[in-house]
Amino acid sequence: MSSKKYFDEVALQWDNMQQSLFSEDVREKAFSAAGVKKGKIAADIGAGSGFITEGLIDKGLNVIAVDQSEAMLAEMRKKFSSAEEIEYRLGKAEKLPIPDEAVDYAFANMYLHHVESPLKAIKEMVRILKPGGGLMILDIVLLKELPDSIKNSIEAYVGCVSWAVLKDKYIEAIEEAGFKEVRIIDETSFPYESLENDPTSRAIIENLNISPEEAKEAVSSVISINIYGIKSLQD
Ligand SMILES: C[S@@+](CC[C@H](N)C(=O)[O-])C[C@H]1O[C@@H](n2cnc3c(N)ncnc32)[C@H](O)[C@@H]1O
Repeated sequence: MSSKKYFDEVALQWDNMQQSLFSEDVREKAFSAAGVKKGKIAADIGAGSGFITEGLIDKGLNVIAVDQSEAMLAEMRKKFSSAEEIEYRLGKAEKLPIPDEAVDYAFANMYLHHVESPLKAIKEMVRILKPGGGLMILDIVLLKELPDSIKNSIEAYVGCVSWAVLKDKYIEAIEEAGFKEVRIIDETSFPYESLENDPTSRAIIENLNISPEEAKEAVSSVISINIYGIKSLQD
């Protein structure tokens, strides 16, 4: 299934789904590391139902929220109907509907691993940032390669995951795209017990027919990470 179709379908439930996935503490840490300032402009790329946007407008920023899914943007408009600080733009990762050097910050929460051309998507974030602007990516990465059987099973169940790469490769890709001073702000592992309570993860584990020990080993290879980088002042 394409990620657009998947997110169009889950748009109505996304607010509930994301509550068990992302924490406000992690979001706060990301804002503080990026040094977000009132009156500045931020892009929320792959904005979904607006988890990042909500935190940014609370801090007095203006936000351009971009997503490929009309249904997600419709949810966001409903939720923030009285917020004049948000502009909604329908668009794809590889060609963001934002002019060159237009924003002070670009945020991307749990977005890049769904994108078919992540390297192009990162370059697009370089393009829209003003020189010296900050990029904050929150995403999942691997500490070691997963066996093919597990990768294939995840793909079969959650067909919209395109990019599951090793942490070092992920950071290299951000540096190659033109970001400086790239640093990890936060890393969190997924407790195995929390995945057992998640129907999709449980289905993957059951489908694989592997022992709880093997499943725990695979889960321990996947972490979520916040990475911050700055667009250099000159090309
Ligand atoms: C896991 S959701 C995260 C949503 C939001 N950032 C949040 O914090 O709740 C990923 C979002 O990225 C969007 N997305 C995925 N691939 C995309 C692409 N290639 N171009 C634009 N948006 C994309 C999806 O439509 C979805 O709304």
